This record gives sequence, C-alpha cells and structure tokens, in this order.
Amino acid sequence: GRVAVLMGGTTSEREVSLDSGRNVLEALRARGVDANGVDGIPNLVRELQDRHFDRVFNILHGGDGESGVLQGLLESLRVPYTGSGVLGSALSLDKIRAKQVLAAEGLPTPRWIRLAGSRTGGSDDVHAAARELGLPVIIKPSLEGSSVGVSRVFGEADLDAAVELAARYPGELLVEQLVEGGEYTIGVLDGRALASIHIVPAGEYYDYHAKYVAEDTQYVCPGLDEAGEAEARDQAERAFEALGLRGWARVDFMRDRDGRNWLLEANTAPGMTSHSLMPKSAAALGVSFEDLCWRILETAA
Ligand code: DAL
Ligand code: MG
Repeated sequence: GRVAVLMGGTTSEREVSLDSGRNVLEALRARGVDANGVDGIPNLVRELQDRHFDRVFNILHGGDGESGVLQGLLESLRVPYTGSGVLGSALSLDKIRAKQVLAAEGLPTPRWIRLAGSRTGGSDDVHAAARELGLPVIIKPSLEGSSVGVSRVFGEADLDAAVELAARYPGELLVEQLVEGGEYTIGVLDGRALASIHIVPAGEYYDYHAKYVAEDTQYVCPGLDEAGEAEARDQAERAFEALGLRGWARVDFMRDRDGRNWLLEANTAPGMTSHSLMPKSAAALGVSFEDLCWRILETAA
C-alpha cells in the first residue's frame, strides 16, 4: 500500500526532520515501498483526503508531530502510523513529565526542579532552584529537541541568561542537576533495546552543532562492556515500558564517573540523519538502515 513519510513541519527541528525524512524515503523506496514525502500535518490532512495512504511513517521531530497531537488525529481517522501513541508521545516530548514517570518507576534520573516558562506565566527563582540542586545545572526548555535552547550553567552569574534563552521556547523550563561524565544513548526497536552509543564530542558538549554539523564527533558503539550493555538495555526497556511507548524510540542517558547511569529522556521520533544515533545503535547489531526503516514501518499500528 501507499505510505506517507511525514516530515518537515514548523518546529525548531524542521531541517533535521527533512533530512531524516529524505533518508527514510530513500530506504523505503529501495525496499519497493510506495513511499511519498509529505511536509507537515496540514498537508498530510489534505493528502489523506484525496490519496488514501494506508499508513504514515512519522518522522516529524518535536511539536505536534511528537506530542500526541498528530497521533490523536491519526487515531481518529483510523490511519496506522509508526511510533508511540497519544499518551507515550505526550509524556515523552515533555522532559519534565517523562522524568516524573521514570522516577516513579524507580529508574535513575538526575534531580530536577520545574520552573514556569515565560509563556506559562511565572517568574520562578532560578537562583533558588540552583542553590537547592547545587551547581552545575543544565537548563532546558521542556518541549524542544536536538539541544535547542539548552545551556549548561557552572556559575550563578550565568543562570539568568540560560533562563532567558530557554524561555524563548514554548512550555516550562527544566532545571536539572548536570551529571558530569559521559553522554550515552540507546535505541529501542519494537520494545527491545539495541546497542548503546558513547558520544564523544570533539568540543566540550554534544550540542546542535556537534549533533548535525561537525564531522569530528566520535561515536563508540557498543559504548559499554557486556555488563554495562545489559544494564543499559534493561533500563531503556523499562523506560520504554513505563512511558507507554510503542514501535521505536531512543533513550538518552548520562553515565557518571562512578559508573552510574542517569536517564534523561526518551525520543519517540528519533533523528534518522546521516549523523543521527538511532541508525548507529541498530548498525552495531547488524541492522542496516534499510532494515531499520522497514522494521519500524512494520510496527505501524
Ligand atoms: N530530537 C532529535 C531528532 C533526536 O532525538 O534525535
Ligand atoms: Mg529529545
């Protein structure tokens, strides 16, 4: 049947999504799938009216595409789609709610304080939050991806600028204890975790530039020894389950200098660019990019 590959959209991650979408389109076409690129939800609605797609491969990053809004629309239209449903998407896009679920499940996540964003009405005291958590902290807009709007803060003098940056984006602000150590991620495909990746940026941080532009970020995959991999897989699968996810996702975590993992978030429409992590996590277990796209498509429900 016909597949719509839904990409682009209007979020801060539009360009990343277009890049992911082009790769998914190419891979599905190579497998003989009648795959058609569609840019954004309004166009999808129009195309669903006249072209009768049988399924949607959703590779929108952030916003309505990853928040449950699209998922609710497709549920009500009875069109199968890849990835998590309404609840899992909504819980995971919101980094704060995701951490509440992880913590309630007994999974380790760094301590945090929630602040109202400028668009959610408050002027909470970030200085009080930082004193309670202890510096350094990392300040994030709760609803963005790809490190957009994120700052690491080591000195009290830099707190206000970090809040000002994060507050430019919708939603609340997450002030989180910064775990110093290594940055890791692990893909999950159909409920089963793949291989972990240890991300080693050439600069200090794995920010937007290191994610998509720089060619000198190093990826070690699998990122852990056998026991470490088993632990990370177990944690990722438990997070997937606790957040009510479906199909595929990628769970990001930090590993501190004592070798303890701290889960940060789950991404329900992970990047599929040539720089992205999900394809590397699969490749380490012998799952090619084409296979990965095919298997994700098969999980559409
Ligand atoms: N939000 C980006 C696309 C990711 O998690 O890969
Ligand atoms: Mg994310």
